[in-house]
Amino acid sequence: MEKSGPIGLIDSGIGGFTVLKELQMRLPNENYLYFGDSKRMPYGERENDELIFLGNAIIKELEAQGVKAVVLACNTLSSLTSDLTSRVPLFSVIEAGVQETLACKDRGMVGLIATIATVKNRGYERELLLWTKDVQYIAQGTHTLGKVINDGQKNLKILKNNIREAVEPILLRGAKKGMMIEDLLLGCTHFPIVEGTIKQMYPDLNLINPADGLVRLMEKHLRENDYFNNEKSPCTTQILTTGDFEIFENMINELELNCASLKMTELEI
Ligand code: DGL
Repeated sequence: MEKSGPIGLIDSGIGGFTVLKELQMRLPNENYLYFGDSKRMPYGERENDELIFLGNAIIKELEAQGVKAVVLACNTLSSLTSDLTSRVPLFSVIEAGVQETLACKDRGMVGLIATIATVKNRGYERELLLWTKDVQYIAQGTHTLGKVINDGQKNLKILKNNIREAVEPILLRGAKKGMMIEDLLLGCTHFPIVEGTIKQMYPDLNLINPADGLVRLMEKHLRENDYFNNEKSPCTTQILTTGDFEIFENMINELELNCASLKMTELEI
């Protein structure tokens, strides 16, 4: 493990780009290697055994390419962190999301939208309980929103319907408990891509993006272990995908990501 080794990121598709973007902006002197398993997207509709198998296979692949840390830039995989094995430090976007939640709330209810698997695995609830009993999530899973975003959110009406279907039940359940939900955690890394649309539809909601907390966790780790990249050569980001090359290309441009190379790959499984 070299200090100049890249930080690896994993997602099922382009969602993890929202984490990569924050990392590139705030830790610009690091190299990055991103693995998107687009061929098997959506992860949120898969069984845990399969997700654990895929997660471990991708971690192994990234380790073989010399990463110095792995970021699970996917909430669905993060909800199974304790079942994943890695030789390098592993960062969960759920841990980061909980840190972000606690930074803005010390009691009450927070809305959480995520994939079906993330909600079923109760990853956020379990992590939050390690810190407090005074804050709780009202979680709503969505079968389709991540995929609609991954496919380029071409139809605004469909996108808005999907957002509404995920958010409204949370507001209703809050109201039934006599509470007005003020905060909404975007518990799937695809969702911050359409943050603007969600904000436009629900201007009073404070949106929580776990990517902010992830950068802080990573920065702390690199600082405390004296593990910042200190090579003088220019930093690079390499992006690998198992499918949807064009979708990746478009989103790299849309988010203005630094990207030295985008390549198709197969996962050795
Ligand atoms: N972006 C992923 C997440 O944060 C998964 C979306 C999917 O593949 O279902 O959970």
